[in-house]
Formats: sequence, C-alpha cells, structure tokens
Amino acid sequence: MTDRTALISPSLLSCDFAEIARDVAMIEEAGADWLHVDVMDAHFVPNLTIGPPVVKAISRVASVPLDVHLMISEPARYAEQFAKAGAYVLTFHWEVAPSLEEAREVISAFREAGIEKVGISVKPDTPIEPLEALFDEVDLILVMSVFPGFGGQAFMGEVLDKVRWLRTQGYQGWIEMDGGINGETIVDCAEAGTDVFVAGSAIFGAADIPGTISQFRSTATERMHVG
Ligand code: DX5
Ligand code: ZN
Repeated sequence: MTDRTALISPSLLSCDFAEIARDVAMIEEAGADWLHVDVMDAHFVPNLTIGPPVVKAISRVASVPLDVHLMISEPARYAEQFAKAGAYVLTFHWEVAPSLEEAREVISAFREAGIEKVGISVKPDTPIEPLEALFDEVDLILVMSVFPGFGGQAFMGEVLDKVRWLRTQGYQGWIEMDGGINGETIVDCAEAGTDVFVAGSAIFGAADIPGTISQFRSTATERMHVG
C-alpha cells in the first residue's frame, strides 16, 4: 500500500449532460485521474441514466480512463457493448450475481469482451465476506457508501469496516468508495485502506474544482499511509 497514490474519479452524474464534452475537458484539466460513469437501468436501482452509446461518446472526447459503474441487472449481457464503448474499469454489483459461480460468469464475460480491469461492488447493506474467494480474480472492489441510485446522499460511515476487513484479509487490489465523499469523509476512507475515491457533488459543486481534486488526492494519499 505504501507506494500508492490515491486516485480521484469524479462522477459525471454531477456534470451538465447537455455539455458533457465541455465538462469532461474541464474535469480532466482540473486533474481527474479517472472519469466515473454511472450506468443505471431503472431495475437494479430506481433511476435511469445512460447506456453504451453515451459511454462511447464520452470515451471519444476523454483522455483519462473511464471507470464505468454498472448498476444494472444483467451485466454480462452488456459486457461487449461496454468494452467497445471504451470502458477501462468495468464494475458490476455482486447483488445481481450473488454466488461465486454467477459472479465468475460475469467476470469471465467481462474479460472475454476485452475489459482490462474488472470491478465488483457491494451495496451498503450487503456483506463483504463472500468476496474473499474472488480477491485474485478482480482488480477493484467498490464499497458503496450510499445506496446506489442518486448523487448527493450522505456518507454512511458504517461501511468503513468493510474496507478495513478487506485489507486485514490481505486484499491488495484497488478499493474504491462511492457516495458522499467530501473533504472530511475522504480522511476516514483513506485511513481504512481505500485508494480510489469517487466524488460527484463535492467536486462538481466546488468553487475551486482543480484545488478540490488536488486537495482530495494529497489528503487521501497522506492518510492512506497513516491508516
Ligand atoms: C450513486 C453513484 C455515485 C454518485 C456519487 O449511485 O454511484 O457515483 O454519483 O455522488 P456523490 O459524490 O454526490 O455522492
Ligand atoms: Zn458510482
């Protein structure tokens, strides 16, 4: 963990969808490491956002990696479309494939489609322990710190135990947290062992966006090494 730098992945859910290209350029210029793209199907979550054509359009104008968070019921079915659309990290939810066998089918579908980095996510009320058997098969574990579906919700501190547990069990891959991350909550997340930080409202709503991103990265990198 000690040689790592925190990665900041601003969530485009908080951008102006009528001006995606402008906001992608702005947020990259402001220092984003990745771009977090929230895909929702109005079935797994009570909200509907964007699909592969829009992800592809984002990828055309983006120069940093796309961190695509699938909040959809049938992730394997869309693996190829999201791979072709330019996803670098593609994350699915354990709750839609809640056994090792089903999760492995999704992971294989993603890898066969050519996805470079595979992520798996859990909602705040889903236990993390079953994921231990998948530590060597995924690149990223996304610990949700709000119930997925909407930006601007309050951070749920109780999920920090999951992050600590993952590191205690020896998980070495990326741990990402998503939901309610701001200049205060990022400290506890980093100390617990998180190294990828998604933030929507706290970044897009900041008066000084480049300053906020760089402060998030430096605070988190410093606290990661203390925790
Ligand atoms: C919520 C999404 C998040 C959301 C985070 O379902 O997965 O990525 O954009 O927004 P904030 O940072 O505003 O909580
Ligand atoms: Zn997300």
